Amino acid sequence: MSDLLTLRRPDDWHLHLRDGAALAAVLPHTARQFARAIVMPNLKPPVTTTRLAGEYRDRILAARPAGSDFQPLMTLYLTDNTPPSEVDTAAASGFVAGFKMYPAGATTNSDSGVTDLRRTDAVLARMAELGVVLQVHGEVTHDHVDVFDREQRFIDDILGPLVERHPRLRVVFEHITTSAAADFVRGARDGIAATITPQHLLHNRNDLFRGGIRPHFYCLPVLKTQQDRLALVEAATSGDPRFFLGTDSAPHARHTKENDCGCAGMYSAHAALELYAEVFEDAGALHRLEGFASHFGPDFYRLPRNPGTVTLARREWSPPAAYPMGGSDVVVPMRAGGKLRWQLVEA
Ligand code: DOR
Ligand code: ZN
Repeated sequence: MSDLLTLRRPDDWHLHLRDGAALAAVLPHTARQFARAIVMPNLKPPVTTTRLAGEYRDRILAARPAGSDFQPLMTLYLTDNTPPSEVDTAAASGFVAGFKMYPAGATTNSDSGVTDLRRTDAVLARMAELGVVLQVHGEVTHDHVDVFDREQRFIDDILGPLVERHPRLRVVFEHITTSAAADFVRGARDGIAATITPQHLLHNRNDLFRGGIRPHFYCLPVLKTQQDRLALVEAATSGDPRFFLGTDSAPHARHTKENDCGCAGMYSAHAALELYAEVFEDAGALHRLEGFASHFGPDFYRLPRNPGTVTLARREWSPPAAYPMGGSDVVVPMRAGGKLRWQLVEA
């Protein structure tokens, strides 16, 4: 078995970079692996306009490590009040890759999210006309729906009808977590794809409770069953171009996760490709990692595949217990203090 794995340079199609000191602290991890990333707009306040996205983009570009050519692909946060004209402005900007739909209250900083998707129908119609992509956080938020059933209910009640109502709208179902979601994407019309995170490929919900409550395994959508996990591994490693890489790496300061109301989000940017490589190797599909990481995303977003390559070496290493996250804050990364089997070879 080869000890080196070289891939076309990949992209991360779903990423949280935060802002300010945290942005400066976490961006180098992503920029060393990925050429581009779709940057989520759930800042406080959220990035709701092309102007705000342009300013955020400038801050990201300024925070790049010296010599980095990393390119942020910006998203706008869809609200009940987004005017259809914002779609035209965004499309004309050349730096906005899509609009992100958070159901109100679904996750971190989603209070301004959409309360009723039908209120956004005129915006979605304009997006379909201009070929602008909708990125969807696919969970209903009703209190009476079990937290583990919220993705399935979203498919049945919201996403299924939505893609029929807007037959030309291009949609990425973000961070899918269930076999139902993988089946939905496979059975959907053209123009529907999904991203899959490393944590949903590597962990099931038992890991949230292994010997005690484990806040660093808490993310949204929450980890699901072993059967769901295996269905996601099957989808990711199948070579089906509708499934591609999106880490959802979401840094939170340690004290905000180790807390009586801990934040949702797992941090994987320090070792994203290495984590995915373990999944693909264990599935006997290392030869399909490049499609998932480097081909299918740009093809869906109608962007060129990256020039250049990255190389992983089969070499055991341990991520530290924590990385700096600005000021006195630290972030606990996935696999902290544990072992990883692959390591990115520094260029
Ligand atoms: O776990 C999550 N963290 N899920 C999300 O949807 C948001 C993210 C964050 O911003 O922390
Ligand atoms: Zn996310």
